[in-house]
Amino acid sequence: MTRDTTGLIGSFRRAGQGQVFAFFDRLPAESQARLLSEAAEIDLGEVDRLVRTLVAEGASRTVDLEGLSPAPYERLPSHGGDPAAWSRAKAAGETALRSGRVAAFTVAGGQGTRLGYDGPKGTFPVTPVLRRSLFQVFAWKILAAGRRFGRPLHWFIMTSHQNHAQTEAFFEEHGHFGLDRARVHFFRQGRMPAVDFSGKILLETEGSLALSPDGHGGSLRALERSGALDLMASEGIDTLSYFQVDNPLVRCVDAAFIGWHLTRGSEMSSKTVPKAYPEEKLGHFCVRGGELVVIEYSDLPLALQRERDPSTGALRYEAGSIAIHVIDREFIQRMARGADGLPFHRADKKISTVDADGREVRPGKANGVKFELFVFDALPSARRPVVVETSRADDFSPVKNAEGVDSPATCRADQLRQFARWIRSVGASVPTDSTGLPEAPLEVSPLFGYDEGSFAESWSRLGAKPAVADGLCLEAPPL
Ligand code: UD1
Repeated sequence: MTRDTTGLIGSFRRAGQGQVFAFFDRLPAESQARLLSEAAEIDLGEVDRLVRTLVAEGASRTVDLEGLSPAPYERLPSHGGDPAAWSRAKAAGETALRSGRVAAFTVAGGQGTRLGYDGPKGTFPVTPVLRRSLFQVFAWKILAAGRRFGRPLHWFIMTSHQNHAQTEAFFEEHGHFGLDRARVHFFRQGRMPAVDFSGKILLETEGSLALSPDGHGGSLRALERSGALDLMASEGIDTLSYFQVDNPLVRCVDAAFIGWHLTRGSEMSSKTVPKAYPEEKLGHFCVRGGELVVIEYSDLPLALQRERDPSTGALRYEAGSIAIHVIDREFIQRMARGADGLPFHRADKKISTVDADGREVRPGKANGVKFELFVFDALPSARRPVVVETSRADDFSPVKNAEGVDSPATCRADQLRQFARWIRSVGASVPTDSTGLPEAPLEVSPLFGYDEGSFAESWSRLGAKPAVADGLCLEAPPL
């Protein structure tokens, strides 16, 4: 054994984590090397702090709700917002896009466990007729926006150890969907070890640790560590448009939203939709101690989620978080390098592990704790954060569950309704049911239109207008 190996094993023993090497001596050399390299990734001081603060008996499990109030937000013009302020924001965002200051950023590290889909979630075939993947939808929206503003955008994609190679291969296979491959940047998020309820780091097999992605909040430090922030700086990019891989309706680059962020001098801005019903599983924008915070649906008592404004009847905590942000590059740097960073959250999970004899254990109930960072926990540290309303129909229909709410079926229907609305907005007639769902199959390529405005521009350039009643797929218009 080398001095380094003895030193590493010794540091685990001194930290009370010697069980990690319980089977070390009987492992083949290759497995020993793998276990050592995984162990070297672990920050034992961090694990110790997390065990004391989040796992140990008496550790606080409740979120501080003292002095909590609903967060104010910029309303859409259709809900009483100032149309002139929205126009100014849009113009400012368009200027930023024309000058190449903005890049797109997708967090794509999570696994589609709830969806029951095997493979990186971004490869899921999501569109209603042509079954294009989530990645293709985003890629084409980004490509189309770059063409429209005369500046191709850079796109940063955060993967996990589990799906990194498959994600890159998928882009290779599809020729990066026509994007300049030099502007598509993949990087891996960090990993955290899972611990049992007494704080011991769990092994997944005799020769490997139970490691899992460190949450989408890990994106801030991964952007820094991977050199993405330096690349952005050298390319003159100071603004990141952040969205999740599960939501094909998202406007990947939304000029008005970017403009609100820039004109307010905000370091981190967020989109909100009014919650559809009190128990909807969205985070809530709130103010606590003068700071903007997001309180997860699981942490806000139901009584508060159900509270209504007596005069309007609207939910008091109505501002739901749909995980779409614009973030300032230097702010990310500050958060990634700062001493306090983001707080970890505890999630109790079933974690496959091994028993004292090295036999596989697949627990039927939670047997340990995973640690995750959430990106919205950066909001309280951001200067002048702004929350901006959007409509669900334009921005939000995620694919999370195999069936029921937020499933492929609901998402396909929402895409179809959106295409029907765009087609109607240019004066063509589309037969629909009472919910706006078209009777015949429709699909609009993001290259033809990625929002109502770009759709109308392409439509106006079409010579003979196509008939819609029997179904229609609108592909890219001639350049
Ligand atoms: C999330 C938000 C919730 C918001 C909702 C909107 C949290 C804790 N909650 O819920 O406030 O209302 O989305 O849709 O985030 N991801 C990574 N790496 C990870 C973990 C996740 O990249 O380690 C990515 C996933 O690929 C996905 C996104 O983050 O794109 C969301 O993760 P998920 O765990 O599915 O969040 P939700 O519980 O759905």
